[in-house]
Amino acid sequence: MCGITGYIGFREAYPVIINGLQRLEYRGYDSAGIMLYDGNQIQLAKTKGKVSNLVEIAKSDISTSGVVGIGHTRWATHGVPNDVNSHPHLSQSGNLVIVHNGIIENYDAIKKELITRGYTFKSDTDTEVLVNLIEEIKTKENVKLGKAVQIALNQVVGAYAIAVFDKEKPDEIVVAKLGSPIAIGVGKDFKEFFIASDASPFIEYTKDAIYLEDEEMAIIKKGREVNVRKIKSDKLVDSNIQELQLNLEQIEKGGYEHFMLKEIHEQPRAITDTFRGRLLRDEGIIKMAGVEDNMKKFLNANRIIIVACGTSWHAGLVAEYIFEEFARIPVEVEYASEFRYRNPVITEKDVVIAISQSGETADTLAAIKLAKKRGAFVFGVCNVVGSSIARETHAGAYTHAGPEIGVASTKAFTTQITVLSLMALRLARAKGTMSSSDYRMHLQELELIPRKVEQLLNVDGHVKEIAKEYLLSTNCLYLGRGYNFPVALEGALKLKEISYIHAEGYPAAEMKHGPIALIDDRMPVIVIATSKGHYEKVVSNIQEIKSRKGKIIAVVTEGDTTVKEIADHTIEIPEVEEAFSPLLTTIPLQLLSYHIAVMRNCNVDQPRNLAKSVTVE
Ligand code: AGP
Ligand code: GLU
Repeated sequence: MCGITGYIGFREAYPVIINGLQRLEYRGYDSAGIMLYDGNQIQLAKTKGKVSNLVEIAKSDISTSGVVGIGHTRWATHGVPNDVNSHPHLSQSGNLVIVHNGIIENYDAIKKELITRGYTFKSDTDTEVLVNLIEEIKTKENVKLGKAVQIALNQVVGAYAIAVFDKEKPDEIVVAKLGSPIAIGVGKDFKEFFIASDASPFIEYTKDAIYLEDEEMAIIKKGREVNVRKIKSDKLVDSNIQELQLNLEQIEKGGYEHFMLKEIHEQPRAITDTFRGRLLRDEGIIKMAGVEDNMKKFLNANRIIIVACGTSWHAGLVAEYIFEEFARIPVEVEYASEFRYRNPVITEKDVVIAISQSGETADTLAAIKLAKKRGAFVFGVCNVVGSSIARETHAGAYTHAGPEIGVASTKAFTTQITVLSLMALRLARAKGTMSSSDYRMHLQELELIPRKVEQLLNVDGHVKEIAKEYLLSTNCLYLGRGYNFPVALEGALKLKEISYIHAEGYPAAEMKHGPIALIDDRMPVIVIATSKGHYEKVVSNIQEIKSRKGKIIAVVTEGDTTVKEIADHTIEIPEVEEAFSPLLTTIPLQLLSYHIAVMRNCNVDQPRNLAKSVTVE
């Protein structure tokens, strides 16, 4: 996720674009850049850091006149956050300029081909490859920018929202969309146009907007109506100008009341983006550079030690079950804060996986340094490119969840499990502990997850009704078995941290070893009872609770009838391979904690006493 913005019209473009970037900064903020065309020259300023850094640079380095320009705030996916990797990117000739939100999965192959044709690259980004592919096509086919963009996009695989400018045609900007959002603000009588990832940069200038659909592009010329066409078929489609009803704050939250709810609903896209370039369905394989390049270390490892905190630690617990089940590699999961102080036994034969959304958690960083000092190979799973943990680990794989603004981690959790599942499957294949038919079956199952999450999000209304009955609870129990024991812990953490209700997660079988003494008619018990997860045993646990008047909210597989007879409430999830069920069972628990917290008037996005990134020890 990141922010792109642009302007073409009669106003000075600089203030429009800079203000727009400041509005979009919540979408990604590791670097920022702007291109302006002053009538003669392309003026380009870009820098690591926030938009405020860009303003400083622009003031001293470039002429800020001109009525056309594009800008970008970056959330890096390929190439660490630095000045060179910042957008906008120029083509080799210096005539074309691009800003891009998304991931070009096949950029490496395209880059290699362009290098054979004499192209050189300044940055490590996939975006610079795209702008040079457009240039190569424009030159070789002798076509205009719009046609070159169209031909190029039919060759790339991945997600994009792009704006492209050609110095030789300064009265137009070409935009295109697949998987990442683009809105076009339409000024009065088409005298000016605004381009942005969402309407927040232009809502004060115009409420008339065109939202491109996937696989659509447009050539924007001031004074002319916008022609929207299909990238593949070149067919013109209705531009569908709509009048916006949202205010600025609503736009930033995508129309959701809180960032947390927006991020819960972003999970299908975030999981899909995390698959990109790694789960290669057509070839039926998984390819992860950080794993491929260090395969021997993984295959020869005595064990894998996972270090993390909070929700990331819960993702690590899920990974323990998956790695041991699929790849038969012994796994230990450690709280980073404990691991770093207890003088653990670590050897060169250990692989340590550090999981962290922010990539800045002090305890996890310290655990990594300790492990490295004792000779272990350390692999990072982070959501922030170029973060401290990403830089400290020997190798890694990024989740592509996009910025997670809500303090309560949601899409980070599911994308961490996605990365770890891909790794476990890849290692299972390499170790030969999984047959090729099972491997393919699991890949197909995994690939279906985003659609199942999308379908499951429809339980929101039902969960909200359940939340109404329990918002005054003072304690809650969460129970799960196997893969869903960590989900029980995660569900309890979600409720605790945003609604301030005390909650505990337990392995369901542990009830008889003490916690069942807590059960009475005021104790809601959330039980995960998926059809393939030790189902009969969990049903017995539910009956034990029922007989002690506990209130039961059960997460079941759709079509379940047995638990429905016993539980006070059931929430159905789609049928799923048990190993991947945490990617689904966690969704209703996220929604339950969210609605209870909202009904208790808690500050859902910034809960009391908490920070998004715990950089203190
Ligand atoms: C989860 O909802 C919390 N915000 C918190 O437990 C978080 O998971 C923990 O602080 C670890 O953060 P990290 O993933 O950025 O390292
Ligand atoms: N993949 C591009 C990059 O890493 C764009 C990332 C974004 O959406 O900001 O530069």
